[in-house]
Amino acid sequence: MKHSHSLFLKVTSMREQLQRMRDAALQSIEQADGESSLQDVRVRFLGRKGELTGLMKGLGALSPEERPIVGQLVNTIKDEIESCLESALTSAREQEINRRLQTERIDVTLPGRRLPCGTRHPITLVIEEVCDIFAGLGFSVAEGPEIEHDWYNFEALNFPPEHPARDMQDTFFVDNNLLLRTHTSPVQIRTMLKQKPPVRIIAPGTVYRCDSDATHSPMFHQIEGLMVDKGVTFGDLKGMLTVFTNQLFGQKTGVRLRPSFFPFTEPSAEVDIACVICGGKGCRVCKQSGWLEILGAGMVDPEVYRHVNYDAEEISGFAFGMGIERIAMLKYGINDMRLLFENDVRFLRQF
Ligand code: FA5
Ligand code: MG
Repeated sequence: MKHSHSLFLKVTSMREQLQRMRDAALQSIEQADGESSLQDVRVRFLGRKGELTGLMKGLGALSPEERPIVGQLVNTIKDEIESCLESALTSAREQEINRRLQTERIDVTLPGRRLPCGTRHPITLVIEEVCDIFAGLGFSVAEGPEIEHDWYNFEALNFPPEHPARDMQDTFFVDNNLLLRTHTSPVQIRTMLKQKPPVRIIAPGTVYRCDSDATHSPMFHQIEGLMVDKGVTFGDLKGMLTVFTNQLFGQKTGVRLRPSFFPFTEPSAEVDIACVICGGKGCRVCKQSGWLEILGAGMVDPEVYRHVNYDAEEISGFAFGMGIERIAMLKYGINDMRLLFENDVRFLRQF
């Protein structure tokens, strides 16, 4: 009897201890703040050295009849703590996700921050506008190298070696045969060597001459034009150039054609636009003449066709080469060409 009484005490005390531990565990779970403190609770109660494991060691002191009863109680409490922990963990993870959704939220409807943005250079604007106008007249764009052979830049264009016409363009030579192209006309030669008539191209690009003042720059830009087909006349050239200057400068701007000379065209002309800086009265830009020369043009010389194996009896054509800087000066009222190359942002921002 005495024996069973003490056993009863043991069982009762184990039950009480288990209940207290359960209450403590549930309270800790409730108070835990976040996933990692919940993991601490798990270790503290259910871990290998945890409180529940410690209590289970006391089972050995119970009688064989009582052991399964208390054992079952231990399992029930263990399950209860585990399922409480699980649901607390799930809601802690959910809360964490919600917290991140709140704090890391991006409002995609907010207007973007604008990056400071430059403007296109007036030279670029003019090249694009001129190319657009000629694209409308059926011309496509061609290109050639800036470092050119003497043959393309001069000889095939009917400037024989030692010919005085070479002095028309002060040339930067690389060596005896190589030079910085002085005009875009070598693209005429390169195009005709590659392609049979009909030809209708424009060729924008950079050219170089040893030349510098208010209307001359050592590096400047030209746009070459070339049209070759059966029956092309000087009237076609004049018509194209009239359409072009009217579109670029407007109908009211004065335009004149002057007879001129180029070794690769015959007859040749130069085209002047009334000086917009002084309104034709005469100034530094137009050298007091009231006019500014923007391009050279003419009918392609038969001697040029000979160099590219075209039959001058079959076809005819015209060519022109215009100075982009001069056109930009007239279009935007710029009174010194050097402004175009100094890259002063106060100047460039106006375009
Ligand atoms: C030529 O360069 C010829 N290749 C044009 C040509 C092409 C004629 C096809 C006939 C057929 P010129 O040297 O005149 O020609 O130059 C043409 C244009 O370039 C000039 O009208 C002028 O507007 C511009 N130009 C010439 N030299 C300079 C310079 N140093 N700085 C800026 N623009 C210049
Ligand atoms: Mg000229």
